[in-house]
Amino acid sequence: MQSGAQQHYRAVSADKLLLPTAQEENMETGMRSLLSDNSRYVESFRLFLKNSTEHQCMQQFIETRLPDVVSSIGNGKTAINVLGVGSGSGEIDLQMFSKIQARYPGVPINSDIIEPSPEQILSYKERVAKTPGLENINFSWYKKTSSEFELQVKEEKSERKYDFIHMIQMLYYVKNVPATLKFFRSLLAPDGKLLIILVSGNSGWSTLWKKYGSRLPLNDLCLYITAGDIEDMLSSEGAKYYSFDLPSDMDITECFIDGDRNGDLLLDFLTETCDFNKNAPPELRGEIIRELKTPGCSSIKDGKIIFNNNLSAVVVESD
Ligand SMILES: C[S@@+](CC[C@H](N)C(=O)[O-])C[C@H]1O[C@@H](n2cnc3c(N)ncnc32)[C@H](O)[C@@H]1O
Repeated sequence: MQSGAQQHYRAVSADKLLLPTAQEENMETGMRSLLSDNSRYVESFRLFLKNSTEHQCMQQFIETRLPDVVSSIGNGKTAINVLGVGSGSGEIDLQMFSKIQARYPGVPINSDIIEPSPEQILSYKERVAKTPGLENINFSWYKKTSSEFELQVKEEKSERKYDFIHMIQMLYYVKNVPATLKFFRSLLAPDGKLLIILVSGNSGWSTLWKKYGSRLPLNDLCLYITAGDIEDMLSSEGAKYYSFDLPSDMDITECFIDGDRNGDLLLDFLTETCDFNKNAPPELRGEIIRELKTPGCSSIKDGKIIFNNNLSAVVVESD
């Protein structure tokens, strides 16, 4: 486990994706955040998904573990309230709904979704429109960040409670994580559960960013935070939680082939730097290339270099 104070910068939030700012540049080296070049970011991200088991490991968690996690959330209730925070295009949300529906067949579900990106909301709506079997789910989308939603709830003095809240791969983009956790825990109904998925404290990401985060062109609006940090925060608040490891890996072999375009893109994604190979100072580049091969980051399987992309799912129970 890591100290809650150890926070590592990762990426800018969705609504800032296209805006290169002075903060995104490392003034000393001239390196630029990958997020300042949206098309390169999207290309790198797609390659990351292709080379990693990120989505598969979440799907496996949903198939094997989620049914138990949601097994009592709707007990004695006439409707189930679900809140998705940073749901993106809803791919994972819909898979989770199928498990809630299977446990509570026919029970109406109210689904509130907080998502700041209009493009993602549109994709989510399109996905809902073409997915059968969602008739008992009433969807409401809020184009907001989590803190804007918090403000709205407080202003409206809303008493609404939720039986299931999820935050999947999104807490990196929140400024005050302990306060955010506290607020969303306060929205849990009796028997409610809050599910958080983030990179694991034992992942290669954690090793890499702890060591090199301060030397890369990152934006101070977002944190590189791991599930280990979240567990520390929850423990210090006396919250009840349990967690699951979601083993995941990423083939980074191409990063070590000079001039390989996929390798360049993967390296950009790993360092959140635009064209890292071209723009990084040679010394830093050499150090990171060596670090990526160390056991803290990767292992060798069948002659391939496999980066540790482990995730963790943390389930917080209502007080
Ligand atoms: C990496 S994506 C994860 C999407 C989805 N949960 C999944 O796992 O497929 C992060 C999402 O968080 C959203 N986001 C960014 N900053 C946010 C904030 N402050 N509050 C809520 N959502 C945010 C982004 O727009 C994006 O859709």
